Amino acid sequence: MAKVEFDIEKLISEMTVEEKINFVVGAGILWLPNNPAPKVKGEAGETREIKRLGIPKAVLADGPAGLRIDPERENDENKYHATAFPIETMLASTWNRQILRKVGEAMGEEVREYGVDILLAPAINIHRNPLCGRNFEYYSEDPLLTGEMAASFVEGVQSQGVGACLKHFVANEQETNRMSVDTIVSERALREIYLKPFEIAIKKAKPWTVMSSYNKLNGKYTSQNKWLLKDVLRDEWGFEGFVMTDWFAGDNAAEQIKSWNDLLMPGNTYQIFKNRRPEIEEIKGAYERGEITEEMLNERVRTILKVLVNTPAFKGYKYSNKPNLEEHAKIAYEAGCEGVVLLKNNGALPIKPETRVAIFGTGQIETIKGGTGSGDTHPRYVVNLLDGLIEKGIKIDEELSEVYKQKISELRASDYKITKNEWGDNIIPRLPQDLLAEEEIKRYATVNDIGVFVITRISGEGVDRKLVKGDFYLADDEIHMLSKLSKAFREQGKKLVVVLNVGAPIEIESWKDLCDAILLIWQPGQEAGRIFADVISGKVNPSGKLPTTFPKRYEDVPSRSFPGEPKDNPEVVVYDEDIYVGYRYYDTFRVEPAFEFGFGLSYTTFEYSNLKIYRDGGDIVVRFEVINTGEVAGKEVAQVYVRAPRGKIDKPYQELKGFDKTKLLGPGEKQKIEIRIPVSSLASFDGRCWVIEKGEYEIRIGASSRDIRLKQTYILD
Ligand code: BGC
Repeated sequence: MAKVEFDIEKLISEMTVEEKINFVVGAGILWLPNNPAPKVKGEAGETREIKRLGIPKAVLADGPAGLRIDPERENDENKYHATAFPIETMLASTWNRQILRKVGEAMGEEVREYGVDILLAPAINIHRNPLCGRNFEYYSEDPLLTGEMAASFVEGVQSQGVGACLKHFVANEQETNRMSVDTIVSERALREIYLKPFEIAIKKAKPWTVMSSYNKLNGKYTSQNKWLLKDVLRDEWGFEGFVMTDWFAGDNAAEQIKSWNDLLMPGNTYQIFKNRRPEIEEIKGAYERGEITEEMLNERVRTILKVLVNTPAFKGYKYSNKPNLEEHAKIAYEAGCEGVVLLKNNGALPIKPETRVAIFGTGQIETIKGGTGSGDTHPRYVVNLLDGLIEKGIKIDEELSEVYKQKISELRASDYKITKNEWGDNIIPRLPQDLLAEEEIKRYATVNDIGVFVITRISGEGVDRKLVKGDFYLADDEIHMLSKLSKAFREQGKKLVVVLNVGAPIEIESWKDLCDAILLIWQPGQEAGRIFADVISGKVNPSGKLPTTFPKRYEDVPSRSFPGEPKDNPEVVVYDEDIYVGYRYYDTFRVEPAFEFGFGLSYTTFEYSNLKIYRDGGDIVVRFEVINTGEVAGKEVAQVYVRAPRGKIDKPYQELKGFDKTKLLGPGEKQKIEIRIPVSSLASFDGRCWVIEKGEYEIRIGASSRDIRLKQTYILD
């Protein structure tokens, strides 16, 4: 990129106070009519330009599954599509740092080549409750896995000369009343679970920016919380980038500036929130009263400029509007293949080349690529599951799929019309699934060799999922259909596969015996059908593992206060499960999940051996070997859990402290794995500081959190 020199101190000395105040407020809600046009249509916001001083605007755009910009522009024949990658939860299911890095690089290139400067991703809140509407945008219930995935992704994005943004800082684990709810959480849980991924990613990957969240944290909006944004983020962790608010967040612009929230986005919030005063006026008032000093403004402006001078906009980069979408489609496919999780398999999968497949469920055509809201994407295409099978030459029952096409168009034309919400997003009613009579199903079971039933769910920003049939539970029509399929295929000695095209856990326990295999394809992005086809045919051996627990029953979920109190309109949500989030709870309190954290089957088998543990400086080094003992090639995700000794502090039964994924191992092939666990990562936060307990630690190497293959004690003295 061209070198354009900006002397930040000189610029600051030349800026008027008014210009400084303007600069810490975003350029406004540019998608509203009568505002200046955005530089890139569909972007989320911009920083302000100061023409007089040669300071250009910089463009910010979402999001976690791919760059979200409008593909269409007025009076312009060209299209501006971006790649739809798998959702973050699926990316985390790969447990593969290299893939996250590659996906980051690809997205970063699209960001740069479409004239955007900062990507508003990754989102790294924690899967605290399966019903959070944005869980699909987050990686995991575990802070280490989240932090590691985020770090690799950020490195990838930023290697392209554009910025990444860790969001939403912090404790924003629900959508219900997200702009006002007060999250009450102990400092221990905050530090060990919710802040941890941010800490890991910041220290490892130096993201250019952080986005503070909508919610209050222990009584104060996070964007108005100096302890969070200054003491922890900058003084303790050494974060050097800038902090922006989430869009329209908080209730006091001056407080935000005073609390080290450098940039207020999108700016001109009063245009939507009629009861608010313009941020610029509020800040000016505080300046005139002496509550905000010029020094403070200089500091915020300096922090923002230090980042922005590295952006393509400031370097005068001539973007092409032609990112390498062909290449990125391959990366989206590859990432998706590694993120598919095989949950159950009684010999149903993979299918053989001659197997005739009857695919049921409207999701074969209306496949869900990802969630809605700012985590949505606008790709060139989405290969649905049916087209994926056809493209890959899998023998399908074409008549059956034609029936589905027909039924879908009839339903969508009548009672199940797609409408738009106030934001212009599609509202797509879930279609009934009990669409075929028993006799018809019987016929399809006779003329085909295997049945596949697709179940879909979609959720998105702004609303949480519901504990109802059709959302967390299967709907009655889905259960009826599943039962009929199960009966028809099994009566003829044939197998039934359920495919879950969902963004977060649903209830499985009550119906899992009705099928022979369950394949979790998550929401895999634009390459959905290709990924699906190659996994069921065995061309790709599934190697994804769950980054989040699938509970047996919703009642087992530890976050009892969700989405807070009072139930109908929560003002407060108390994280009273404390550090016992996800498997930390299920393992410690002996609650059996449906599918545990870290779980995922393969078409082959792996054995673990030769565990050696030794100390090297500040690290505990764990070495072992993984061998493919089965018939086909595959990859294994090896996980290291640590059980702490009984000490002064309550500890979970075990915690993930390291992981690695093997390369593709052929039958009989072996790989040596070495995982380093920094001793410092064994510390717990006792309420005031980090404490490392001495004594006997159990180092547990597993294929999942409940399938521990090797263990050894390690004495820390
Ligand atoms: C979301 C952010 C997003 C921003 C800009 C907000 O509603 O919470 O994740 O980056 O909008 O689109």
